[in-house]
Amino acid sequence: MKNFIMAIDGPAGSGKSTIAKILAEKNNLTYLDTGAMYRMVALYFFENNVDLDNDMEVKINLSKIKMDIEKDKFILNGKDVSKDIRTPRVSGLVSFVARIKRVREKLVELQREISRGKNVVLDGRDIGTVVFPDAPLKIFLIASAEERAKRRMKEYEEKGIKEDFEAVLANIKERDMIDSTRSEGPLKKADDAVEIDTSFMTIEEVTDEITRLVKEKTGE
Ligand code: DC
Repeated sequence: MKNFIMAIDGPAGSGKSTIAKILAEKNNLTYLDTGAMYRMVALYFFENNVDLDNDMEVKINLSKIKMDIEKDKFILNGKDVSKDIRTPRVSGLVSFVARIKRVREKLVELQREISRGKNVVLDGRDIGTVVFPDAPLKIFLIASAEERAKRRMKEYEEKGIKEDFEAVLANIKERDMIDSTRSEGPLKKADDAVEIDTSFMTIEEVTDEITRLVKEKTGE
């Protein structure tokens, strides 16, 4: 297997990152969480009071961002922000940042660069449509908004973050709307992606199903 790219797209909370991590481990692939990259930009913009409507400010501040990614450790300009990028505050802002064309262009380029010459599984919204439209295996994960909100609540609880279910559900629905209606790289199933509804599936069932597809594609 050489330069194998697996694209996993889908809305927030559909299970992408959990599934991608397991698949990476099982199939010896590098895992790239592209949502975390958008979150790092959102965090930097928030901390530096960047006006998202001011193109020059966005451009200048983007050029000041240096990202280093080591597995699931995310380093922003030398500081480990792995926890800071998962807060409700960043979740609330990130969709507004992710719809800026300049931001997307920079991150798409970086995602291609990081993946060059490797066997990679990437999760995001536009991996199968924009970042790697020729990826041999594309998965599109979906789940009901309620189920996804429940999963996010559980994640927050595990991290000791207190959140209201209705607020989490509203944020998920709002992000779905912003992510799927933006003009640049919207959340959209690629024509050749395999759609899997994870609402009533266990993590193991989903990974088994995708592992079967990996074997089918690679013959390994
Ligand atoms: O997967 P996530 O919830 O961590 O993603 C955070 C945000 O980043 C989400 O609102 C959509 C955006 N995103 C994107 O636009 N394109 C990607 N490839 C990955 C994430």
